Amino acid sequence: EAAEKAGFEHFMMKEIHEQPKAVKDTLGSVIKDNCIDLSSVELTEDEIRGFDQIYIVACGSAWHVGMAAQYVIEDLADIPVRVELASEFRYRRMSLNKNSLVIVISQSGETADTLAALRLAKEKGITTLAVVNVVGSSIAREADKVFYTLAGPEISVATTKAYSAQLVAMYCLAVQFAKVRNMITEEQYSNYLSELLTIPDKIQKILQDKERLQWFAAKYANAHDVFFVGRGIDYAISLEGSLKLKEISYIHSEAYAAGELKHGTISLIEPGTLVIGVLTQSDLYEKTISNMLECKSRGAYLMGLTTYGKYEIEDQVNFAVYVPKIDERFVGSLAVIPLQLMGYYVSVAKGLDVDKPRNLAKSVTVE
Ligand code: G6P
Repeated sequence: EAAEKAGFEHFMMKEIHEQPKAVKDTLGSVIKDNCIDLSSVELTEDEIRGFDQIYIVACGSAWHVGMAAQYVIEDLADIPVRVELASEFRYRRMSLNKNSLVIVISQSGETADTLAALRLAKEKGITTLAVVNVVGSSIAREADKVFYTLAGPEISVATTKAYSAQLVAMYCLAVQFAKVRNMITEEQYSNYLSELLTIPDKIQKILQDKERLQWFAAKYANAHDVFFVGRGIDYAISLEGSLKLKEISYIHSEAYAAGELKHGTISLIEPGTLVIGVLTQSDLYEKTISNMLECKSRGAYLMGLTTYGKYEIEDQVNFAVYVPKIDERFVGSLAVIPLQLMGYYVSVAKGLDVDKPRNLAKSVTVE
C-alpha cells in the first residue's frame, strides 16, 4: 500500500496532487487543435441545438459539480438547467420535456440512486449523457452517451480528483453548447479554451503553497461548527468545501448561500465561530463580504478565499487565501483546492482515518 501512495501519507493527498493531471487528461480527451470534439461522446451538433432543457442529476460531490456547472452552462449556452439530487429525482412528478438532456454525473458509475434516475429518464425517452469515471460501470453501460473523466482510480472515500475532472468535463460541455448554439463568437470560444487549458498549472501553483493551510487547519482542528458561505458559483464551491471538511474531520459544517445567513443561521454565530467565505466572483464580492462582516461583528473569525489582486480582503477577514486569476466562470476548479486541503489537514491534525472516514463508503450502491 505504501508503494501505491507514492510517498504520500494518504491516498487523499496523493489524489489531491494528481488533480493537474486528471484535469489535463480530461480536457485533452476532447480539446484538439483548439476545438472541442465531442465525437467520443457521440453527441452531435444537431442534438446540441435541439435541447431546450438540461437536468443534471447526481449525488454527493458529483451533485456539487452539477451545482457549479449550472451557472456556467446557463451563462454561456443560455439553456435552462435544473440540478437534481438523484435520491430525490424519482419522487416528484416532473413533466420531462422530450427535448431535454439528462446529464448524470458519477465517479463510480454505480451509485444506486443515480443509476435509478438514469433508468427513469431513459424510460421516458429522454436523451441521457453520463459523465463518469469508471469505464464499463453500470451507468457508463446504460447511458445513451458517455463522457469519460480521465481521473484514474480514486481510492480515498472523499473525492478530489474525480470531482475536478467532472467539473472541467462540464465546462467543456458548456463551452461547446455555447458555440454550437451561436451564443459566443469564435474569438470568445478560443479564449475560453485557452483559459480552460491553464487550469492544470494553476492548480499546481496552489498546491505549492499548501503549508499555509496546514498551519491554519491545525489552529481550527477543535472547532465545533464551521460555516461556508458564497453566492452563485461561490456557493456551489462552498457546498463542496463544507462536505470535504465534515466527511473526514467530523466537524459540523454547513454551506449557505451567503444571503440566507440572516434568515436564521446568523443566530448560531458565537465568538470564535469560523466562517469561511468564498469570494471569487467580482460582482458578488461586496455583498458576500458584507454578510461575513455581520458575522465578524458577532465574534466570528473569518477566512476569505479570493483571487490574487483582491488584497483589500486583508483588511476585512482574519485569514486570506488566494488562488490564481482565471475567467471567473472557471474559478471553481481553483477555489476548491484550498478547501480540499483544509479538510485534509484538519482530519490529519485530529489523527483521524483520512482515507476511510467512519460510516462512509466510496460507492453507495444501496438507496
Ligand atoms: C459517495 C462518495 C462521494 C461521492 C458520492 C457519489 O458518497 O463518498 O465522494 O460524491 O458517493 O458517488 P459517485 O460515484 O456517483 O460519484
